[in-house]
Amino acid sequence: MSSNSTSPNDAPPATGSAPIPRAKTTGLHVGDAAPGVAKVDPIIVADGVRRSFGGVTAVDVEHLEIPRGAITALIGPNGAGKTTLFNLLTGFDQADHGTWSFEGKSLAGVPAYKVARRGLVRTFQLTKALGLLTVMDNMKLGAQHQRGEKFWAGMIPALWRSQDAEIGDRAMVLLKKFKLDAKADDFAASLSGGQRKLLEMARSLMTEPTLVMLDEPMAGVNPALTQSLLDKILDLKDEGMTVLFVEHDMHMVRHIADWVVVMAEGRIVAEGDPTTVMRNPAVVDAYLGAHQELDLGVVTGRISVIEADPTTNAEASAAAAAITLVNDGIAEEEDEEKGR
Ligand SMILES: Nc1ncnc2c1ncn2[C@@H]1O[C@H](COP(=O)(O)OP(=O)(O)O)[C@@H](O)[C@H]1O
Ligand SMILES: [Mg+2]
Repeated sequence: MSSNSTSPNDAPPATGSAPIPRAKTTGLHVGDAAPGVAKVDPIIVADGVRRSFGGVTAVDVEHLEIPRGAITALIGPNGAGKTTLFNLLTGFDQADHGTWSFEGKSLAGVPAYKVARRGLVRTFQLTKALGLLTVMDNMKLGAQHQRGEKFWAGMIPALWRSQDAEIGDRAMVLLKKFKLDAKADDFAASLSGGQRKLLEMARSLMTEPTLVMLDEPMAGVNPALTQSLLDKILDLKDEGMTVLFVEHDMHMVRHIADWVVVMAEGRIVAEGDPTTVMRNPAVVDAYLGAHQELDLGVVTGRISVIEADPTTNAEASAAAAAITLVNDGIAEEEDEEKGR
């Protein structure tokens, strides 16, 4: 039998039934992977960034570069300063000292809405979806430069109607992608916690950003939905975006991060690829000591992590196919919602 003739019996399983392995991005840094190490192509460069609250120094970052086109995880114990650093970089809080740039241009003192216009968006640890607006209206709020918002142009509907339709189309494409299209006309308040996280991520993409910063995207999300969220984050990189995310789940970090930055007590205490960082005794001391159930010696690729990893939720491991996980997750969330 020639190699390109396939009988129904030896045909491969239908595509879409298993996750497609996606390569990690390597060769991101220059020289030894130490805190503050230079990157080959940094998208963010921060210097001497400090922020104190009363007597507490929340952030004290000497030097940090975030590599472009990769997925970087920011990890560290509670109170390490991760959210505060996100707030500073995105203009939601003011630093006491320091400079930082995005795409080579200084962002210090630039307000949040202008930061977003430059292509840097973030989501929040606690979701900020506006409950009394519909899912679609939440999405439309994410779009920028809407002509209808300008006073004079707003009085001439022909100027904004076509743009509004275009924004609606773009929103619908994203909602479909995040499996929220059936909820477009529902109030955001009616969504489950996991769906609100998905909505926030979808909404952040309305601005067509270059850098997406996600603060604990998995927190409060039904475990059955995590595979779907992981895939969405990997998709962002495939579409050419840079991702910086905060996460506590080491399984997820190892699974999707190309680079890991570790914070403790406001400082950067380690940097490196996930495998190396998780073997670093300083990291184990500063952070992973509290997570001894993780087998730090197990180093797996993305897919084997899903298939058989002692740190994976046992139930999730059993249902290894990503599609099953996604669909089950959505069904479960819907059941949960009906039960309320
Ligand atoms: N608005 C604030 N007012 C006072 N203290 C704050 C504020 N925001 C953060 N902190 C303090 O700064 C430190 C870092 O907090 P945070 O950035 O939220 O840490 P993480 O996100 O790593 O858990 C903590 O000690 C926290 O209590
Ligand atoms: Mg936080």
